[in-house]
Formats: sequence, C-alpha cells, structure tokens
Amino acid sequence: MARLNWGMIGGGEGSQIGPAHRLGAGLDGAFSFVAGALDHRPEAGREYGQRLGLAANRAYGDWREMLDGEKGREDRVDLVTVATPNATHFEITKAFLENGFHVLCEKPMTMTVEEGEEIVRISRETGNICAVNYGYTGYSLVRHMKAMVARGDLGKIRLVKAEFAHGHHADAADADNPRVRWRYDPAQAGVSAQFADCGIHALHMASFVTGQEVKRLSADTVSCISSRELEDDAMVNFRMDGGAVGRLWTSSVAIGRQHGLTLQIFGEKGGLRWSQEQPNQLYWMPLNGRLEIIERGEGGLSPEADRTSRVTIGHAEGMPLAFANIYTDLAEAIQARKSGRTMDPAADLYPRAEDGLRSMAAVFAVADSGKREGVWVDARPPMFR
Ligand code: NAI
Repeated sequence: MARLNWGMIGGGEGSQIGPAHRLGAGLDGAFSFVAGALDHRPEAGREYGQRLGLAANRAYGDWREMLDGEKGREDRVDLVTVATPNATHFEITKAFLENGFHVLCEKPMTMTVEEGEEIVRISRETGNICAVNYGYTGYSLVRHMKAMVARGDLGKIRLVKAEFAHGHHADAADADNPRVRWRYDPAQAGVSAQFADCGIHALHMASFVTGQEVKRLSADTVSCISSRELEDDAMVNFRMDGGAVGRLWTSSVAIGRQHGLTLQIFGEKGGLRWSQEQPNQLYWMPLNGRLEIIERGEGGLSPEADRTSRVTIGHAEGMPLAFANIYTDLAEAIQARKSGRTMDPAADLYPRAEDGLRSMAAVFAVADSGKREGVWVDARPPMFR
C-alpha cells in the first residue's frame, strides 16, 4: 500500500506534544512527513521543518501558506495534525476540512460548544475525517478494557471512577510564571482551566471504555491557589446514558502525582483498574474471584488489544505508541476510503469531532455547575439532546 502524506501545524522545536506526534505518525510506515508549519515564528518553523527533513518548499512559515501550498498539489497531504495552542484549533481545523483535507486536531477541539457543533457539521457535510487526539485511548490495554466491557465480561456497568490529577502547578510562588499563569486566565484559557486541559481526557476515556455518553453532571470546582480565577481542582459527579454512575477527580495541585490518568470500571460481574503510568498492566477482579494482572502483549486478549500491541510482552510500551495507534487507525480509515472498501472494525476506534464536541459541552457544564454550587446540569451538546 502506498504511504500516505502527513503534515503538521504546531509542534515546533521545544513544544510539549510535537515529538509524540512525529514518533506516532512515523512508527508504522503508514505516513511520510512531507509538510509542516511548525512554529508561530515563521522563520523558526521553516528552519526546524527542514532540519526534520521537509523539503524547503514544504517547510511553511504559517498555516495559511501551508493550506495554499498544499491544496494545489497532486501529492498533497492526506492528513494534517493541528497541534497548536487551543484558541487556534477551530479556525485551522475548519479551513483544512473545508479544503478537502482530513484532520487530526489536538484537544480541546474548540473553545466553545458552537464552534464544536460547526466542526461536526463541516466534517459530516464534507465527508472529511476530523479526529481528535484523545491519544491515551490508543493504549493497547485501554482498547482491551473497552473490548471486555463490550463483550460483557463485567456485566452491566455500575460505576466509573476517572482521575487525571497531577501536581505540576502546585507551587504558589510560581503561579505568576507566564507559562503557568495564562492557563488560569479566562481571557486566554476560556471558561475552565484544569478540567478543560486534563479532566476531558479522563471523561472521554470513561465514555470510550464503557460505550456510554455523559448525560448530566454536577461539579465542585475550586482554585486552591487563590490568585487564580479558574479552577485548579475539580470533583465531578456524572450520570451516563447506559445507567453508569460516574465520579471524576482532576487536579493540578496534587503534589507528588505525576501524570495521574487512571480509570476504574466496576460492573455487576467484575472490576477493572488501569493507570497511564503503568500502562502495560491491567488489574482485573472477577466477582468472587481473585485479582489478576493482565499484561499487554499476552496471548488470547481481544483483537483490539492484539492489533495495538507491538513490542514483546515484558518490554514497556508508552505514550508515543498509544498515539501511533490513533495514527494507524486513521491510516486504515483513509486507505479504506481511497480504495472504496470497508475499514477494519478493530481500527474504527479513533476519537472523532463528535467526541471533541461532547467534551466542549462538558467543559461548559462543569464551569456552569461549579459556579452554582454543584447544581446538576445537562452535559450534552444541544445538537445531541
Ligand atoms: P506548546 O506551547 O509546548 O507548543 C505549541 C507549538 O505550536 C509551538 O511550537 C508553537 O511555536 C507552535 N505554534 C503556536 N501557534 C502557532 C501557529 N499559529 N501556527 C503554527 N505553529 C504555532 O504546546 P503543547 O503543550 O505542545 O500543546 C499544543 C496542543 O496540544 C494544545 O492544544 C494542548 O492542549 C495539546 N496537548 C495534548 C496532549 C494530549 O495528550 N493529547 C498533551 C499535551 C498537549
């Protein structure tokens, strides 16, 4: 199969998430990195792009130049990753979708629910893929959890407990550092800080694994560092459309916690626990049974887990390989479209614009409920009510 062409906007030198995308997209030989507008400083972006191997005429100075340059080419990029700061996602994603490109957009997909609905509509009307990088759903054992729930190993799901709590913004003396401060400033970050940044990963993963969507929620949001306008900690209770009860904790002041993304699922017939810092083990407790550790890469797991596990059992796989699984899904989706065949259902798991939109609705619901002392609110986007 011919390699697909891939391009990236943002993710310049020294960025947090750029390297994980380049590793992920390059891993399986499905994509060639051929174009980019990598930095908000045009010259730095051009220079870095060429150092990464881009041709000089495809190492663009900004995303509009890249759109103009790529749309006329026979060998235009098949997929564009948008890994710029949040406030730019909407206009870049919209422009590329409207010009016939498939897009993988970083989270949060947009800054408002209305923008999210527009992206969903454009993606549906144009037929172009808009994926959203909830990259942690690419972990093999997260795929396996989803498969176990879907095949009924846990029975009816009673409870979901999701966490994404770290301690990297806990130093009150550092709260005025410009790299930290903007995140808690509504003018730059929007209506929510910690929930919009990290909480949505945990909430999305709860939906991904259970196959249920969040209907309503109640949030207790606080700024533990009092100079912050937006929350640095939130506890969210939620209810899902399949009857599951959800609890979510997210924090940026949990000193001692590093990444802190953890999911627990409790059903009538068993419970599961997975943590992103030990992603190669999944804890499974069948009702009245004994605790088992499921290892990534062991035989006899689900097709979804087998497909997304690459390195032999016992050798750790980590976050860039989880991203690689999102890219492999997208490569399969794009190749299937190109050749007019049905895609492999085990690959049809990449998060979509609809998921990005649901997250935006949850962000606004958390902000609203948090301001009103935890009143229960509808967490669904108007489009899906
Ligand atoms: P960063 O600030 O470390 O890097 C941003 C990069 O984008 C820089 O290289 C900057 O020069 C470039 N840039 C900014 N504006 C641009 C523009 N208009 N055109 C081209 N390039 C531009 O940011 P970071 O942490 O890498 O985050 C980027 C996005 O990725 C954010 O939306 C963030 O929420 C998301 N993210 C997602 C993660 C995940 O697990 N899915 C993890 C970390 C970040």
